Amino acid sequence: MGRPKLAVIGAGAVGATTAQRLAEKELGDVVLTDVVPWMPQGKALDMMQSAPVLGYDVTIRGANDIAEIAGSSLVVVTAGLARKPGMSRDDLLLKNAEIVGGLADAIRTHAPGAIVIVVTNPLDVMTWLVWKRTGFEPQRVIGMAGVLDSARFCTFIAMELGVSIKDVRAMVLGGHGDSMVPLPRYSTVSGVPITELLPKDRIDALVDRTRKGGAEIVQLLQQGSAFYAPSASVAAMAESIIKDQNRVLPAAVYLTGQYGLNDVFAGVPVKLGSRGVEQIIELELSADELAALRCSAEQVRELVAKLKWM
Ligand SMILES: NC(=O)c1ccc[n+]([C@@H]2O[C@H](COP(=O)([O-])OP(=O)(O)OC[C@H]3O[C@@H](n4cnc5c(N)ncnc54)[C@H](O)[C@@H]3O)[C@@H](O)[C@H]2O)c1
Repeated sequence: MGRPKLAVIGAGAVGATTAQRLAEKELGDVVLTDVVPWMPQGKALDMMQSAPVLGYDVTIRGANDIAEIAGSSLVVVTAGLARKPGMSRDDLLLKNAEIVGGLADAIRTHAPGAIVIVVTNPLDVMTWLVWKRTGFEPQRVIGMAGVLDSARFCTFIAMELGVSIKDVRAMVLGGHGDSMVPLPRYSTVSGVPITELLPKDRIDALVDRTRKGGAEIVQLLQQGSAFYAPSASVAAMAESIIKDQNRVLPAAVYLTGQYGLNDVFAGVPVKLGSRGVEQIIELELSADELAALRCSAEQVRELVAKLKWM
């Protein structure tokens, strides 16, 4: 049977760090692909040379030919462009849709049994596109955003209260963007909701910082965007799938009536196991929270409509 094969497409900041984290967790043998000649091979060789120091016993191979993903049980899609000066969000949407749409065709051909984790932005729309173009059942196409957004919320809660990050849990639903829906009532310190621990104005400030979490990092870096926490988030999802852990994590998944939403990808809590999305969990939401989630999903639906011709 051998070890599972894991493919990471796109060997940029997020992709390369993800490959490294998957190897360090020894989840399987990793193949890292990119269109830039020799770059993924170079990064993979560098990672292989950290194995003797760190002690992981899996292989990491770089490739330019997408056919090298053949037989992967998990594929992570991180390929794409970031927005450049003068480029509108719509330009980025169309450009990344072209890249990700082509990759979805390749995944269908070369790794027809894979579970796919999509990372490329705009996240919810790219996840829809991969689902549509692969024709995979929706349980096997999952967008990474909620784990990252929740991790950011957790970090800010722990910093605000001066408590160990180990005791903080947070839940962020909705699309990956300004319309995301952090849920303070379901965010806790050792089981105590933060609504019991912090005044409303402080919670509002943490929610706002979470919503703008990606932009804050872009601003600080001046070049590129976040990749340490995004790759850690992908690795947690991958681990739950490969080890059939059934962890409950927020992720962008295809909804069929849950939360009153149909035929759209949106971030909700799911159980992740060996078949991908094992269960979609429906939380009891207040009218305001539900309205915010639906509004976020409608924004995704509008962007998807722009791609329907593809
Ligand atoms: N979902 C999230 O929460 C989240 C978080 C961080 C980043 N992202 C997104 O992830 C994507 C990658 O971010 P990054 O920082 O790694 O960018 P990056 O520019 O460092 O890397 C992207 C890589 O994709 C490669 N690429 C382009 N077309 C390709 C193709 N057809 N096949 C294989 N590789 C191809 C590029 O050569 C480049 O190396 C971006 O769209 C970014 O917005 C999403």
